[in-house]
Amino acid sequence: MKATITATSRYIPEKVMTNFDLEKIVDTSDEWIRTRTGITTRHLVAEGQATSSMGTFVATELLEKSGTKPEEVDAIIVGTVTPDMLFPSTAALIQNNIGASRAWGYDLSGACSGFLFALESGVRLIESGKYKKVIVIGGDTMSAILDYTDRNTCVLFGDGAGGVLLEPSADDSGILDSILRIDGSGGPHLHMPAGGSLHPASHDTVNKRMHFIRQDGKAVFKFAVKGMADVSAEIIEKNGFTGSDIKLYIPHQANKRIIDAAAKRCGFTSDQVLININEYGNTTAGTIPIGISEACDDGRLNTGDLVLLAAFGAGFTWGSILIRWGSVR
Ligand code: ACO
Repeated sequence: MKATITATSRYIPEKVMTNFDLEKIVDTSDEWIRTRTGITTRHLVAEGQATSSMGTFVATELLEKSGTKPEEVDAIIVGTVTPDMLFPSTAALIQNNIGASRAWGYDLSGACSGFLFALESGVRLIESGKYKKVIVIGGDTMSAILDYTDRNTCVLFGDGAGGVLLEPSADDSGILDSILRIDGSGGPHLHMPAGGSLHPASHDTVNKRMHFIRQDGKAVFKFAVKGMADVSAEIIEKNGFTGSDIKLYIPHQANKRIIDAAAKRCGFTSDQVLININEYGNTTAGTIPIGISEACDDGRLNTGDLVLLAAFGAGFTWGSILIRWGSVR
């Protein structure tokens, strides 16, 4: 039995920060950001909002669109590196907000690959036959961990979340295959040093700005191009398809140049590739479910289409998931 996506949703915060706004904060320019990354604007949560607020909007809309009652939800899985707090989980906060009284669930930390890892987990729950309705959310409040004095990172990210409802498939549509990887040797290139058990919050960690994201962009770029291109090409070939069989490639949106390189390797034309980094920046675990939801609403996905997801992120983490698109509400 396959698992299939039966509803999609996304939450994009209202507040917009443009490249010109950033020019006033750090030594950067609209021209540098656009040409090096493809980003023009990003959206930021309002004060008091957090990852659970965005996730609650997404989960509520998934229920509405699919006509599902909160008590019918079996599990909620949230991919995020910016949970509201270390515990309780963001999944538990969302569960309580939507009144999913019979659900269990958890958060998982896969950085930019977080949604793919969460989707894989949800798919396996459905395939076990024990669970019938699983909400899978990817979202991050990156503004909470960005150092707005560091031009190397603060221009790249935004806030946002998206999600899907998974149910057993009644036909041959659904999640067909996945290739997922982690390689912890890449950890030092992209991490947030403090706030966990190794360096708990202290005056020292705050003074040293250790609660912000740190990235060696060049090193990550090199691994990201190869990692995302390799798994994208591998999953297509493994399943007996070619690039032209894929209706839509929905890659993680970290840098337009990374996306272009991965798409070229797979032989995709530009109309096969979803790109929205210009508007939202990198929303980490949010990029792929936001892309799925947009493509669905824009009529870019129809029953029977092959959809390829691919991501690369901190860890390092990376992977690809191949989907035969089904009937989505
Ligand atoms: N504005 C102006 N200049 C800048 C900025 C900025 N915002 N940021 C860096 N620069 C400067 C650098 O200091 C450097 O100057 P120097 O030559 O005088 O030292 C110059 O621009 C070039 O820097 P590079 O690092 O060579 O720029 P590059 O072309 O590699 O682009 C970028 C940098 C955009 C960060 C790119 O490397 C990248 O996208 N990396 C991958 C990011 C990624 O995929 N992350 C993974 C997902 S994130 C997650 O998992 C949470």
